[in-house]
Amino acid sequence: MKGVILAGGNGTRLQPLTFVGSKQLVPVYDKPMIYYPLSVLMLAGVDEILIVCRPSELSLFRELFGDGKKLGLRIDYAAQQEPRGIADALNVGADHIRGEECALILGDNLFHGANLPSTLRRSARKLRGCVLFGHQVADPEHFGVAEVDKRGGLVSIEEKPRHPRSNLAIPGLYFFDGGVADIAKELRPSARGELEITDVLRAYLEEDRADLVWLGRGVTWLDTGTHETLLDAGRFVRDVQHRQGTRLGCVEEIAMYMGFIGTDDCYALGAEMGNSPYGHYVMERARSFDVGMPPTDFLESM
Ligand code: DAU
Repeated sequence: MKGVILAGGNGTRLQPLTFVGSKQLVPVYDKPMIYYPLSVLMLAGVDEILIVCRPSELSLFRELFGDGKKLGLRIDYAAQQEPRGIADALNVGADHIRGEECALILGDNLFHGANLPSTLRRSARKLRGCVLFGHQVADPEHFGVAEVDKRGGLVSIEEKPRHPRSNLAIPGLYFFDGGVADIAKELRPSARGELEITDVLRAYLEEDRADLVWLGRGVTWLDTGTHETLLDAGRFVRDVQHRQGTRLGCVEEIAMYMGFIGTDDCYALGAEMGNSPYGHYVMERARSFDVGMPPTDFLESM
């Protein structure tokens, strides 16, 4: 499965933080925001990833991740000329996707919780069109909203409805079969002038090929698009990390546990950041890997 991270947009809700530089490079506590969605794709087993961003920010992301090799990944980059909507990432990324299955994640979404990696991998295996996720929230009107019947089957999908039919928000993570670029090609802009991802999802729903996977209460999903939610996310990451002595979204550690890189490679990546507690953590995880927790335990605890 290929991966696409959408890391463009003007980040106007985060101004003046985003006057210079990318929103998805703004820190969420101890690492750039994009580490979190990148780690979700890695945990889903995806190792070929396209980062879609503003033309002026290509060089920043390239500087951060290079070709991805140091994490055992292949990372490519593509520019979205204008923020034409989330579904536009599927047009910009059509050459990368090349008719294969793909996972699209928004660069400002953070996921954490029990059994998340196995849920993702199981959902990817069962793909028969598209998979979207559902997460209960108190303010569904700010998101894509899914309506489900008593058996959990999808009934309707709406983008930021004024009167939501449920409190089940659709987070910014979607799995698609190889036909998604063809669907995206045919989209027309919505009333707010964007190519809406919910229109793509609805196209699958109309063919009865859209499956909703519930992310239960054990999973935390945060969207970091405003000053308040950004701070909330930073506090959440800090609190979990301090309490557990672990790191969320630590891409070096995940690369090692997924088998994308070896323990020596992981140690070396940590040593490059040896002046920071983050670097020390990476080195320590690499050192304890041989004698430590089996990978499956680690993966299920992420
Ligand atoms: O966070 C989940 C929600 O994300 C979903 O529930 C909604 O269905 C979906 O439309 C989206 O809503 P948002 O209002 O959060 O979308 P926003 O315009 O903030 O864009 C999300 C991210 O995608 C943000 O990091 C910027 C980036 N983006 C957005 C657009 C429209 C781009 O890179 N290019 C774009 O053209």
